[in-house]
Amino acid sequence: MTGRATTIRLIEAGDAEQIATHLSRDASDFARWDPAQPAEYYTAGGQEKRIGRLLNGYRSSVGWPGAILAGDEVVGQVTVSDIIRGPFLKASLGYWVAVPFRQQGHAGAAVSMALRVMAGELGLHRVEARTQVENLPSHQVLRKNGFSTCGIAHAHSFINGEWRDGILWELVLHDAPPQ
Ligand SMILES: CC(C)(COP(=O)(O)OP(=O)(O)OC[C@H]1O[C@@H](n2cnc3c(N)ncnc32)[C@H](O)[C@@H]1OP(=O)(O)O)[C@@H](O)C(=O)NCCC(=O)NCCS
Repeated sequence: MTGRATTIRLIEAGDAEQIATHLSRDASDFARWDPAQPAEYYTAGGQEKRIGRLLNGYRSSVGWPGAILAGDEVVGQVTVSDIIRGPFLKASLGYWVAVPFRQQGHAGAAVSMALRVMAGELGLHRVEARTQVENLPSHQVLRKNGFSTCGIAHAHSFINGEWRDGILWELVLHDAPPQ
């Protein structure tokens, strides 16, 4: 345990270098869980472009891209994406924490804070997430934040050389009608 408090905030272009450092150092771990990425993804320049795209999504109200911090250090990301309004009022949630900072409660705390942003600032009703069947730490992060499973997406994504099933997770934030 580092004992450093977890916080989240909107991601910034200035986070690119720390994020690229984590993603390149931990590339073999992430290859188990995420699709293959081009070489540029592991560079500060590539991450700066990616963060630019995420912030464009924020400005168009389709996402809320967060950085996860331990103290003042960026240690991961928590990302609200695919915001749909009207009668659905829902979004998807994704997250990662760099290997040296895992098992210290950062993902669990960051997801809890992101749920408050989704229920408050974003006014959403429902959150969806997807995990790989073998990703037990991620299941635990969702379970301890109140999510339950709602199905399997068969052969959902091509990761680490195979089409993988995904477990679908859901959480209803509130039952108020859409405004
Ligand atoms: C999933 C991930 C975000 C978890 O980050 P983290 O900061 O270590 O998570 P936390 O410390 O908040 O919680 C991890 C939980 O998993 C539990 N856990 C760890 N290994 C486990 C295992 N093999 N089996 C069951 N539970 C396990 C921990 O005990 C902890 O639960 P607890 O708080 O009830 O003790 C991180 O492992 C990661 O980034 N993985 C790669 C990317 C990824 O999978 N992202 C999610 C895609 S859906």
